[in-house]
Formats: sequence, C-alpha cells, structure tokens
Amino acid sequence: MLAIIGGSGLTALKGLTLQDSIAVETPYGMPSANIEKGELNGSPVFFLARHGKNHSLTPHTVNYRANIWALQSLGVTRILGVNAVGGINDSMGPEVIVIPDQIVDYTWGRQASFSEEGNVIHADFTYPYTEELRQQLLEAAYKVSVSVCDGGVYGATQGPRLETAAEINRLEKDGCDIVGMTAMPEAILARELDMQYANISLVVNMAAGRSVGLITMDDIRRVLDAGMGQVRVLLDAVV
Ligand code: HPA
Repeated sequence: MLAIIGGSGLTALKGLTLQDSIAVETPYGMPSANIEKGELNGSPVFFLARHGKNHSLTPHTVNYRANIWALQSLGVTRILGVNAVGGINDSMGPEVIVIPDQIVDYTWGRQASFSEEGNVIHADFTYPYTEELRQQLLEAAYKVSVSVCDGGVYGATQGPRLETAAEINRLEKDGCDIVGMTAMPEAILARELDMQYANISLVVNMAAGRSVGLITMDDIRRVLDAGMGQVRVLLDAVV
C-alpha cells in the first residue's frame, strides 16, 4: 500500500476520490492530520498533509514519529514524501523537480528515532532513499514526460527560518544540491520501520545568496502553484 506525504503546496491531493478520513492515535501522539484514504487514478492510496490541513505545523514541530507510525499501522509499506526546497546547484532552479538520492542532516532536537531503551536500532542509512521506489518515480516521470532531475543531495536544515548566505556556501561545500526543512527525520523513521521511502523535491526558490534580491513568500507561492501541477501529474502516473 502506497502513501503520499504532502508538504507546502500539497495539503490536498487533487484527483483523490476520498473514501475515508482516519484519525489515528499512536504511542507518540496524533499525526499531523487525519489520514485520507482514497483512490488516485484508480489505485488505492493514503494521503497525509505533513504540516496539517491548515498548514499550521512548522517543520520542527511536525510529529514525524506519529506520522510514520500511523501510516504503517494502516498497512502502508511505501511512502512518497513531497517537499518544497531551495536550489543550491545552478542546474536546480525554480520549478525543477529533483528525485534526490542522498541526504545531509543538519536538523537538531527533533524526535528522530523509534529507538529506545530495550529496543536499540542502528538502521543502515547508507542509501537513505529506496532505490526501487526512486526508479519507479523516474520511469513514471519519463512515461508522462515530466522532466525530473535524477539524483541530488538534500541538505535538511532546522528552520523555520531560511538560511544565511554563508550557511548555503557551507552546504554547497558539503555537497548539497538542494535545501529543505522536512526530509529528516521522515526518511530515517520510515527506514527504521522497514518501509520503502522516496522523495519528490520541487525547487521553489534559489537558496539564500544565490539570486538577486531576497527570498519572498510571494515568489515561493507563485512557483509552488506552477510547479505542483507537474508534481501531481507525476504522482498520478506513479500510483
Ligand atoms: N531553504 C530551506 N527550506 C526551503 C527553502 C530554502 O531556501 N525553500 C523552500 N524550503
């Protein structure tokens, strides 16, 4: 069973014929929102709005553990996370869709593991995204002629503020191509529960210091509206 976790610009899944809206209690508290069950393009799928239905949760206050646990409790085995990101690499400008293959994690203070006393988990995270699922995304993109970038390093920052220009220079030196606030700990939590996980990152702005002028929410919103259309086409094709 497949689930889609939608981020900024994707708090609802257009085209989802809604069958149920499920409030799941977990040992970690409530997920960001009810989990919606329905059909997308004729296939069963679950959908969860990462930031809540009204986009009220900030990246560092999302209950990632509850989200992943809740999805697994409903029988989900494969997750596609959708994220809006900033572009660091010149070739990853606004409206580019990236299917990243690596992560550098700069987040801190988040509940980032199901590991606890008596149940210590040291999950292998060499390849943080499930290659099989990544390939399915790439094949689906090819089939419906959605242009995507195959591979890239996602630098996960704490937020909610955007970065300084110097921080972005540091991320670039570390090998990061894109920067966002929500890839972690989502990916590791899915791995700890043996679920397949891949990511669709839509670039909505050039990262700090990489374009003339400051980064404005108006500019981001404009690109989100334009770019999420393509993300939706891709999701439709992959389910
Ligand atoms: N930095 C971090 N997260 C983001 C950005 C950014 O520039 N744009 C969208 N999410």
